Amino acid sequence: MDVMPPMPHRENTRPVRPLSAGVPVERRRKPRAQSTPDDRFFRYLVSNMRNAVLAFRRDGTIALMNDEAYRIFGLKKSDGDLGRTYADVLRERPAVIRVLSGAFELSHLPNRAELRLKDLDRVIGYTLSQVKDEAGAPIGAVMFFKDLTQVEQLEERERLRDRLASLGEMAAGIAHELKNPLAGIEVMAGLLRRQVPQVGDAQSLLADIIAEAKLANAIVVEMLEFVRPVRLQVERTDLAEVLHQSVTLAETKVPRRAVEVKMNLEADLPAIEVDQHQLCQVFTNLLANAFEALDGRGHITITASTATIEADPALAGMQEPTPTVVVDVEDDGPGVPAEAQDKIFDPFFTTKPQGSGLGLAIVRKIVDAHDGRIDVNSSAGRGTRFRVTIPVASASGWFK
Ligand SMILES: Nc1ncnc2c1ncn2[C@@H]1O[C@H](COP(=O)(O)OP(=O)(O)OP(=O)(O)O)[C@@H](O)[C@H]1O
Ligand SMILES: [Mg+2]
Repeated sequence: MDVMPPMPHRENTRPVRPLSAGVPVERRRKPRAQSTPDDRFFRYLVSNMRNAVLAFRRDGTIALMNDEAYRIFGLKKSDGDLGRTYADVLRERPAVIRVLSGAFELSHLPNRAELRLKDLDRVIGYTLSQVKDEAGAPIGAVMFFKDLTQVEQLEERERLRDRLASLGEMAAGIAHELKNPLAGIEVMAGLLRRQVPQVGDAQSLLADIIAEAKLANAIVVEMLEFVRPVRLQVERTDLAEVLHQSVTLAETKVPRRAVEVKMNLEADLPAIEVDQHQLCQVFTNLLANAFEALDGRGHITITASTATIEADPALAGMQEPTPTVVVDVEDDGPGVPAEAQDKIFDPFFTTKPQGSGLGLAIVRKIVDAHDGRIDVNSSAGRGTRFRVTIPVASASGWFK
């Protein structure tokens, strides 16, 4: 099989129109009619390959180039390309021409190489081999190649993830180092405040220094909590107690003022197996957010009830339904705007001038560690409801 003719088009039943001076197409097509079943099989094989193929003869004329090759090179297919030189057909892709022109010169052809097509922003991986006749003389060469752009993008994402992971470690290291000097600033400013006379701005400046150092310290502590892997210390816990404690803690973080807090707890809530301290942090963060959203006026309702999550239908009969507790923390504040709802759980997303944006990120991490889930339901102007679902007996151990 020397020249591989282009794929035959579907049978054309329209009247045949002569292409050039009196030579009817029927006559020109003769050679194709003689192609053997084997020829056709190989033609289909090459044309359907998911790899790109480009073969050319010793004189540089193209013997075959499949659709995938055209796609990768960003060229439009034309039947007339067969028989033309690759230097001509690929003139818009000089980088490829350079590779192909070495096919008969290099003693060692690359087994696996990459080529970047800058103007197409595409990377291809290729192998190049010579086509030899029975006597071993090179009569042509063939390039097999594949679009690696997506692979590259995946690798790039992987590298980014690694970088972020090491950034997290670095952040944890910095946060740890910052804790001591910040505590020092706070203590020393406090000492100084006792020594300077109660005149001028000195006292209020020192009070500001202390307040800012406290804020910086709170951010550092939150950051450490976020980057640290969650390790649960599971114990039998009274949910009602956790919720009452959380309200008190949230009040120490954000002034509650005239906000009304109502609790609707189902009678006979079962004891749950959770990390009490961390679950308390979940509800403290949710309540602190609600207090901040209400800004001193409005209502918060905390509802707790039991429910069961049905077993996966695929495992029906093998798995019991999971008993859970469901806690809703609902406020009638301004709500979360639709465009922010995807982002509120992201670390560092905040709409508050003094916020670190870690509150909900930590909440999600702790809930995940308990094999639970958290959902938000909110619309601008109609308040916000966070729903936390936790299995009554959750897994214990290490969670990243
Ligand atoms: N109950 C709520 N009502 C309205 N918006 C809310 C509510 N809870 C959270 N948000 C929005 O979600 C954002 C992220 O909350 P998150 O608790 O993660 O960070 P933050 O409260 O801004 O800072 P901090 O780290 O101090 O908690 C908030 O800035 C706010 O815009
Ligand atoms: Mg918050």
